[in-house]
Amino acid sequence: MKVLGIESSCDETAASVVEDGRILLSNVVNSQIDIHAQYGGVVPEVAARSHIEVVNPVINQALADAQLTWDDIDAIAVTYAPGLVGSLLVGTLAARTLALLKKKPLFPIHHVEAHVYANFLNNKAPEFPMLALIVSGGHSQLVLFRDHGDYELLGQTQDDAIGEAFDKVAKIIGLPYPGGPAIAAAALDGDPFAYPLPKAKLAGAYDFSFSGLKTAVLRAVQREVGVDITFPSHELAGLLSDVQRDNFAASFQRIAIETLVDKTQRAFTAYNPKSVVIAGGVAANQELRRQLSERLPLQIDYAPMNLCTDNGAMVATLGYYYAQKKQPTNPFDLEVIPSLSMTKTTW
Ligand code: KG4
Ligand code: ZN
Repeated sequence: MKVLGIESSCDETAASVVEDGRILLSNVVNSQIDIHAQYGGVVPEVAARSHIEVVNPVINQALADAQLTWDDIDAIAVTYAPGLVGSLLVGTLAARTLALLKKKPLFPIHHVEAHVYANFLNNKAPEFPMLALIVSGGHSQLVLFRDHGDYELLGQTQDDAIGEAFDKVAKIIGLPYPGGPAIAAAALDGDPFAYPLPKAKLAGAYDFSFSGLKTAVLRAVQREVGVDITFPSHELAGLLSDVQRDNFAASFQRIAIETLVDKTQRAFTAYNPKSVVIAGGVAANQELRRQLSERLPLQIDYAPMNLCTDNGAMVATLGYYYAQKKQPTNPFDLEVIPSLSMTKTTW
């Protein structure tokens, strides 16, 4: 079964064809990073307009790269939640129209759940029960999957998402957007023990909090450059030396990643899963992969970097499993849900 997956929930317009939920036939991603970098973050209105311009060419390219025509496509899967409303509307409208026009079954996909399914494109599919650490720009959560579509949220961030913390700390220390890759690169040259930073203590055993860590970085930067708290924070960065910047990047990254791994290790001990997967943009982080592999007593099969950030392949892959168990949705009825969390099974 060949599924076309369409993704447009944030600042990537993406389409991909996946066969039987495991063979990647094409994967086209049009990133808007260059457009948004000049503003220091994603501008929703600009994102929606850019999706409109490229959504059709991206879909056509996904078919062409797979050397397929519409006759070969068995179903369409599209991200309908969560995300930026204007961005979600463009992808879903394209998918709804194509489903009607080409007479294909349509499956609405939850973006965060789809991130987990990038791991099903590995050589060997993860086994259930599967513990998933989902770490993206908008989410930080630990989810236990007992089967496809049967999952339980164990814990999540109480404030900032981990990717958001990377992006905000990057801004404080003068690194470009997106902050995750920029901090990871700077951290390679820094001392991860240069600055002592706190780990949040929370009531929920598997919950996270990153806003205190972000503020702790800001205060430490202010102390380091000797400028008072009322000084505009965006001007602080210019006062840091390259060495200080690299040291802050490395110290922040170490503590942020340790926090994730502490909770993942705790959940692993409590639930004894057969596999552990990481998903979302921050799953591309090498320090996260290093610490997890070092501290968990099982081999983790990591998804390739390009499938960790937003893409259509993860959407098509989850779409395949939906197609095995669920009825397709009526294209006329599909609505976007910008803030649907992944608290319980949606199947
Ligand atoms: O999953 P994603 O592409 O979009 C959302 O659904 O949010 O994740 C984007 C996030 C951004 O916050 C970005 O800074 C972060 O993933 N990110 C990283 C790395 N690559 C991307 N964070 C840490 N280390 C990386 N190598
Ligand atoms: Zn994402």
